[in-house]
Amino acid sequence: MRSLLFVPGDSERKMLKATSSGADALILDLEDSVAQGRKSEARETVAAFLKDAKRGAGTQWLIVRVNALDTGMSDDDLAAVIAASPDAILLPKAGSGAEIQDLSARIGVHEAEAGLEVGKIMIHALMTETAAGMLSAGTFACKSERLAALAWGAEDLAADIGASSNKNETGAYTDVFRLARTLTILAAAHSRVDAIDTVFTDFRDMEGLDAECRAAVRDGFTGKMAIHPDQVAVINKAFTPPPEDVERAVRILALFAAAGPDAGVLSLDGKMIDRPHLRQAERVARRAGLEPDAVPEIK
Ligand code: COA
Ligand code: MG
Repeated sequence: MRSLLFVPGDSERKMLKATSSGADALILDLEDSVAQGRKSEARETVAAFLKDAKRGAGTQWLIVRVNALDTGMSDDDLAAVIAASPDAILLPKAGSGAEIQDLSARIGVHEAEAGLEVGKIMIHALMTETAAGMLSAGTFACKSERLAALAWGAEDLAADIGASSNKNETGAYTDVFRLARTLTILAAAHSRVDAIDTVFTDFRDMEGLDAECRAAVRDGFTGKMAIHPDQVAVINKAFTPPPEDVERAVRILALFAAAGPDAGVLSLDGKMIDRPHLRQAERVARRAGLEPDAVPEIK
C-alpha cells in the first residue's frame, strides 16, 4: 500500500472525490478532522459511504480512523462502522501492543454481532502520537494477527511532550520526532508489518513532498499518508519500485529458487548475493505487487 489518503468523515463531497484520487487506500476519519459536535453525523456518513463502496467492485482499501481508546468514543465508532465491513481500523494514539489486543477484541465482538467472519478486519496503528506509544515501540510485535501496519504522527506528539514545534529553523524534524520516525521503522520490521510514513502538511509543495517520499523509501517505509488528493500521484510514483529494481529482484528470487533451500551465498553479475539480498528482493517484489505464485520464493 503506497498512498493512504485521509478524508474527513463528515464530508461526503471529499469522500466521493477521494475515490477517484488514485490512492491505494482511503482513511475515513472520525478523529481529529471531525469536530466534537459532528462525531455522530460523521459515523453515519462513513457507514453509508462504506456500504455503497462495498457494493461496487473497487480495489481501494477503505480504512476508518476511530477515536483513541481513552476517549470513550471508540466503541460508538466501531458500533457504527464495523457492520459496513471496512478493510481496516486505524487506531490513533496507540499506547502499546496491549491496546492493539484490546481493539482487536472489540472489533471481534462487532464482527460477530454483524454476522461477519471474525478476524477479517485488519488494524493499522499510529504508534508515536504519545510518549507512551513511543516508549512501548517494542510491544507492538505479535500482539494481534490483525496488525497490518504501523504509522507515525508528529502533531499530537508535540502536544503530548510540550514541544512548541516539531521542526527546527531549517525545516528538519527535531530529535524526538526523528526518533519517532526511526522507532516506527524498527517496530514495523520487528512486527513484520508495513511501515507508513507520516503526512506532509504543506500540500502545495510537491518538491518537498517528493524529497520526503524518497527519503522514506530509502529508509524502509512502504507507503505514506496523504491529506490532499494532489499528493497521491507523487507518493504512488515514489513508492513504486522502478522496473530495473523489480527485474533484479525477480532474478535474485529465481536464482535462490533454482539453488534450493540450502543455498546461502550465490553470485549475480559478478557480485556476491546472500540471504539479506534475498530478503530485500522479496520486499521489492511485494512492493511491486507481484503475486507470490509469480515467483516461487516469495512468501
Ligand atoms: N480528500 C478528498 N478531497 C479533498 C481532500 C481530501 N483529503 N482535500 C481536498 N479535497 C478536495 C476539496 O474538497 C476540493 O474539491 P472541490 O473542488 O470539489 O471543492 C479539491 O480537493 C481541492 O481542494 P483545495 O481547495 O486544494 O483544498 P481545501 O482548502 O479545500 O482543503 C484541507 C484543504 C487541508 C482542508 C483538505 O485537504 C483536507 O480536508 N484534508 C484532510 C485533512 C484530514 O483528514 N486530516 C486528518 C489527518 S492529519
Ligand atoms: Mg491527530
